Amino acid sequence: MQNFTFKCPTDITFGKGAEEQVGKKIKAYGGTHVYIVYGGGSVVRSGLLARVERTLTEAGIAFTVRGGVQPNPLVSHAREGVREAIAFKADFILAVGGGSVIDTAKAIAHGVANPKTDIWDFWSGRAKLTKSTPLAVVLTLAAAGSETSDSAVLTNEEMGVKGGINTPFNRPTLAFMNPELTYTVPKKQLVAGISDIMMHTLERYFTKVKEQNRLTDLVAEGLLKDVVASARVAVQDQTNYDAMSEIMWCGSVSHCNFTELGRSKDFSCHKLGHALSAKFNTTHGESLTAVWGSWAKFVYQDDLPRFAHFAEAVWDVPSDFGDDKAKAEEGIRRQVAFFKELGMPTSLGELPSGVLKDTTLHDLADLVTAKGTKTVGNFHPLDWKAVSDIYTMANHEI
Ligand code: NZQ
Ligand code: ZN
Repeated sequence: MQNFTFKCPTDITFGKGAEEQVGKKIKAYGGTHVYIVYGGGSVVRSGLLARVERTLTEAGIAFTVRGGVQPNPLVSHAREGVREAIAFKADFILAVGGGSVIDTAKAIAHGVANPKTDIWDFWSGRAKLTKSTPLAVVLTLAAAGSETSDSAVLTNEEMGVKGGINTPFNRPTLAFMNPELTYTVPKKQLVAGISDIMMHTLERYFTKVKEQNRLTDLVAEGLLKDVVASARVAVQDQTNYDAMSEIMWCGSVSHCNFTELGRSKDFSCHKLGHALSAKFNTTHGESLTAVWGSWAKFVYQDDLPRFAHFAEAVWDVPSDFGDDKAKAEEGIRRQVAFFKELGMPTSLGELPSGVLKDTTLHDLADLVTAKGTKTVGNFHPLDWKAVSDIYTMANHEI
């Protein structure tokens, strides 16, 4: 096993009625002025925002509210939030929504604690984040895992780039997770979220690390199998509490780094996906499933035993199915078939942006590799040519 450090400090309240605890717990953590962030209005229509506000009022906490976060959230919107939250003297930020809302709230939390620094400087690496403001999250969509992750992803619309930062300051102080709140998620977002949850573990499963790490592998494989089984129930009945609970908890475990302990991250498909989202506003989960199969086919021969093991452990491919190459290919086929079963795109051509011209694929490869000056991923480090080849493979149905 490789050395590792792991600190996942979020105080999680999970289950029915979790959101009723918001006021009480923020107060216990010292919050007096709460800046609430939400998205396009689903939490207003469902009555969730009003319930959360009531708990703050009952706890004697002052609050102000900012809506309007869009999927693939913009740094410009977060900047406005920073200004408002500072004027309000916010000492706690509260996100009520999915990953986009949470990531915006993370950016606002950083901006409030560092009023002299433009928040994008933290994303671009020009400034180093050394402090933030406490953040609470009421999660409404199981997907990004931002409720426990050390990551936050923003789009800079002026620069045409989407990117994330990883820092311990991104870990929320509090998370409230009631699976019932996810019953109203649109089907397209449900399946995109399920796919993202799987991808967060897949992007940690295929890495260069060769040392044995059985527990981490078993956690990863168990999580993937649980997501598959629960997803099959959830797409039929989105009000199945057990299935929605499993998916919600898998979302947090999948991206809190627990499935990479002693291993590492690859995340090249995320980089390819972020470039698509930056250019076409592609839904995050869709940007991943559109490229994963092509990525896997491009790299799998680097470590056939690993892909063969994945096929057996996650997709129940029989051990006597064939040699490692045959098993590896079958595992990839079954993973892609599952994405299709969910109704997810598994090629670029199936995205709303359609089949792309070669010049566009090259622009995307420029974005991913900073015009060929860096590689992405570690299982098979991808240079400009490799990224461009994978996009080309992914352009048409696989
Ligand atoms: O905005 P509202 O009206 O709330 O509607 C949202 C939005 O339109 C809707 N929704 C959410 N919960 C709902 C609901 N509609 C009805 N009922 C509910 N209970 O769903 C739509 C999508 O929301 P969004 O927050 O964009 O989805 P998701 O949670 O998938 O987040 C995606 C963002 O997170 C980033 C992605 O890149 C993308 O920008 N990621 C963040 C990560 C992190 N911070 O750790 C890791 C991920 O890899 C990912 O990159
Ligand atoms: Zn993701």
